[in-house]
Amino acid sequence: MGNGKHLSGGGVMGALALAAVLLIPGAALAGGKDVFLDKGCNNCHAIKSQGIEGGAAGGDLNPPDLSQVGTRQQADFLRQFLRKKAPMHGKMHMLRFEGSKEEFDDLINWLMELKK
Ligand code: HEC
Repeated sequence: MGNGKHLSGGGVMGALALAAVLLIPGAALAGGKDVFLDKGCNNCHAIKSQGIEGGAAGGDLNPPDLSQVGTRQQADFLRQFLRKKAPMHGKMHMLRFEGSKEEFDDLINWLMELKK
């Protein structure tokens, strides 16, 4: 964008673009991925379909790859599970989600879109 003579203009445009990303509901998908990485979910879970490698923090528990989580879970259940209000396979999730309602909504919506 521009020819290098309008750097301050570019800064304003950048700020506007960022505001748009934060405010437009359609941007929720990218937001969910950011939340996932921000909260360190990828210290355990891989999501290969999204290029997320996963980490070793889950140890022997073998945290599942979430590439298809949207095909096997319901949003309502994930909301409970990720807040440690409901168990899966008789156990609570390892990590209780901490963050804003908006972050949580973005995260859940994004997870539910993961189907391959
Ligand atoms: C310390 C490791 C660890 C971290 C960090 C972690 N998880 Fe998990 N998660 C697990 C394990 C282990 C399971 C499998 C539980 C089971 O199958 O009983 C799991 C299960 C899940 C499931 C259900 C998967 C399925 O196959 O249906 C979802 C969704 C999930 N985690 C999302 C997240 C999100 C989102 C975050 C970040 C807020 C996160 N996890 C952080 C270890 C972790």
